[in-house]
Amino acid sequence: MPLLEWRDEYRTGIRGVDYEHEELIARINAVYALVEAAAERDEVIDGLGEIYGSIAAHFALEEQMMRRYEYPEYDAHRADHERLLDEIRDISDAYEQNVLTDRQAFECRLRDWFQNHFSTHDARLHRMSGMREHDPVSDSTLRGMIQNAKYRLLNRRR
Ligand SMILES: [Fe+2]
Ligand SMILES: [Fe+2]
Repeated sequence: MPLLEWRDEYRTGIRGVDYEHEELIARINAVYALVEAAAERDEVIDGLGEIYGSIAAHFALEEQMMRRYEYPEYDAHRADHERLLDEIRDISDAYEQNVLTDRQAFECRLRDWFQNHFSTHDARLHRMSGMREHDPVSDSTLRGMIQNAKYRLLNRRR
């Protein structure tokens, strides 16, 4: 069973954001499947880097959009992004140090962020009418951003 499932209530009505959310869910499920299958350690670490990169890239795009439309709740939304990224770094560290042995903790944490952040901070974005037409960036731009963020995470301890 996938870890996260797309739900209609996640839809913000902003094309770019909805597209990235669906992609994120797919990427997270793919990496989670590796964890469940007890894949090679390096493969899982690389996958956690991929999750971090995908989320960091998505947050950066959302923040860019909020600044462009002078979104009034920018600071609070951004603070929640920072908190989520810190948690992913913690999960990644815990896995590398063999502390992450509890599968349920991993599951709960990932689910929680998504359910809470999507349904509160992200759901409010559609109130800004200008944002609704916001288009997704190209796949190659997104891929480049993901790779950069992933690289920063995986190389920070080396
Ligand atoms: Fe967000
Ligand atoms: Fe989002």
